[in-house]
Amino acid sequence: MKYILVLILMIGFNFADDDYGYKAYSKNGVKPVDNELYQNECSACHFAYQPGLLTSKSWDKVMTNLDNHFGTDASVLDEDYNLIYKYIMENSAEKAMDYKRSRRIASSMSYISTTVDAITKTPYIIKKHDEIPPRLIKQEEVKGLFNCTACHTQAKKGSYKESEIKIPNYGRWDD
Ligand code: HEC
Ligand code: HEC
Repeated sequence: MKYILVLILMIGFNFADDDYGYKAYSKNGVKPVDNELYQNECSACHFAYQPGLLTSKSWDKVMTNLDNHFGTDASVLDEDYNLIYKYIMENSAEKAMDYKRSRRIASSMSYISTTVDAITKTPYIIKKHDEIPPRLIKQEEVKGLFNCTACHTQAKKGSYKESEIKIPNYGRWDD
């Protein structure tokens, strides 16, 4: 009888929150980049996106098209490729569900049937940014939503808290 009560309480707790059982050991943001090779090879044109911002399926799509990478060539040496690929795969969103934002991004993928090749094409990230006036995103100081560090002052540390957001020519975001 005691066990049944505990079970009912647990189910009640879990369904009351979209984080399910993860909440108890939840970490904020995404896991910071902790691989020097990845950091060096993938930060020449934009900051090194944390692997926890995309699922492995999407990362595979990005990594198999590096020679045709959003209009540029981002290929790396073969030996580096394998190490980078392995690092990204082992740390992709669905493997880092103890981090809140990775969990949200991974969960949101169930809303679409296609495999996207960008963080900015994931349902969770689209939804989180749909209230920002397009002119603030397109402006010269930002260029596009891909440029996370332009607004998220602590993005390089894997932190995307609302209190740390500062949009150029606008300032702090309060909603
Ligand atoms: C030669 C420059 C260059 C290098 C090097 C480069 N990228 Fe990119 N990357 C780009 C450009 C340009 C975009 C598109 C930005 C935009 O949307 O205008 C992009 C976009 C991305 C995106 C999608 C961002 C979004 O919109 O959500 C991912 C993911 C990404 N790069 C991963 C990588 C990885 C992993 C590496 C290292 C293997 C890498 N990039 C190296 C130029 C580069
Ligand atoms: C033009 C500025 C801008 C850019 C560029 C931008 N963001 Fe944001 N982001 C925001 C704002 C503003 C919010 C807050 C939206 C809200 O909750 O009302 C937000 C919310 C978020 C959240 C949710 C935070 C929370 O506490 O709910 C995450 C995660 C996030 N952004 C990640 C990213 C990533 C990853 C990128 C790059 C691929 C990015 N953002 C690019 C402005 C930006």
